[in-house]
Amino acid sequence: MSLAPQELENTASKYASEAIKYDSQGARGMAITHYQHAIDALVKLLQLYPHSKLNQIYKERCNSYHNRINTLQQAGGVEPAVDPKASEKDQKASVQRQETENDFEELVMKEKPNVTWAQVVGLEDAKNALRESIIYPAKRPDLFPLGWPKGMLLYGPPGTGKTMLAAATANEMDGYFINVDASAMMSKWLGEAEKNVSKLFSMARHYAEKEGKPVILFVDEVDSLLGSRSSEVGGEVRTKNQFLTEMDGVNGKGKDLMLYVIGATNKPWSLDWPFLRRFQKRIYVSLPSLEAREHLFKEYTEPLRKSFKVNPAVLAKLFDGYSASDIKDICQAAQIKTVHEIFRSPDYHEPIEGEIPVQPRELTPTDFKEIMLRRKPSVSTEMVRAYHKWSEEFKAL
Ligand SMILES: Nc1ncnc2c1ncn2[C@@H]1O[C@H](COP(=O)(O)OP(=O)(O)OP(=O)(O)O)[C@@H](O)[C@H]1O
Ligand SMILES: [Mg+2]
Repeated sequence: MSLAPQELENTASKYASEAIKYDSQGARGMAITHYQHAIDALVKLLQLYPHSKLNQIYKERCNSYHNRINTLQQAGGVEPAVDPKASEKDQKASVQRQETENDFEELVMKEKPNVTWAQVVGLEDAKNALRESIIYPAKRPDLFPLGWPKGMLLYGPPGTGKTMLAAATANEMDGYFINVDASAMMSKWLGEAEKNVSKLFSMARHYAEKEGKPVILFVDEVDSLLGSRSSEVGGEVRTKNQFLTEMDGVNGKGKDLMLYVIGATNKPWSLDWPFLRRFQKRIYVSLPSLEAREHLFKEYTEPLRKSFKVNPAVLAKLFDGYSASDIKDICQAAQIKTVHEIFRSPDYHEPIEGEIPVQPRELTPTDFKEIMLRRKPSVSTEMVRAYHKWSEEFKAL
């Protein structure tokens, strides 16, 4: 039976808190066994979901439980991990506090992105909407006596440039870009999600106040704040409410602060009205148009060796319905195909000094057609229809 990540997480977390309890009571044997079970569950998580954003945290936890096991095994009478006289609740809280403070900071990325508007292909409507609502007010706040929208929601199919757009906006206005993944924030490994939400907003306010520079708080997968991922009963409701309150702060009394919240989601229909209302701009990030696909093919095939017959305009027509990130993957797959041919060739040999190493052959239109047979678009037509239907009702530019 395969376990969902959430179940495995819960198992690991349960073992870990029991281990900490036994540890604090000085029950070494039981503590070691439970730490080991927690490690086993975390290792399984790492193996089954190698791309999870939380993996760094899981690894660190494994290491720290390992170290604790080693300490417990070596010394006869080691100190309990926490003060045994404190109440059980306090003990647990103290250990968890140490662990979660740092983890939360780690999940939040504050680097300055290097994506520019020009690199985001197509999506003119989306770019204009962001420009109007973020860049103009940041440049001339005096022209907006009634204030301006601070919450934007980017919605649309995966791989269409939502993250890129948010990054390009931050770059364009020379501001801070705080990037956080809401689904990771809901993980119980990071303590209570509602506290993380308020920490996140106060961090953003702090930057906006201190530096006087615009701050973009980018919350990816914002729908998970409403989801059922939270471990406690009622936890997700409190998290959502906390988020709504924080958004009111941004839209209301923090009116003069240059703090913007950009949320992104693939599942706009799972957001309710109180939530949507706080994102005054709701911007559809669609699949690339014919023109945009041509541009993307031109760009991604540019560095590749190819026959003159490889024509971006023709490819754009062929790959109707494919997303921008599909197109990137397709160009990469075509190029890798020719590299595999080199390695598979019976004459293949390691490069010899003085000899020019063998190069891939030129790509042909057939290469792309073959890949198309093996790769369906990552977004189905039903999905596209669902986005359009939602847009008709809720889009707000
Ligand atoms: N409009 C675009 N122009 C140029 N490249 C794009 C565009 N959209 C996507 N890409 C390419 O696809 C990759 C993924 O895009 P991005 O992460 O912005 O998608 P997303 O809409 O945020 O997807 P998800 O909903 O899965 O988070 C980018 O790194 C880029 O290489
Ligand atoms: Mg994204």
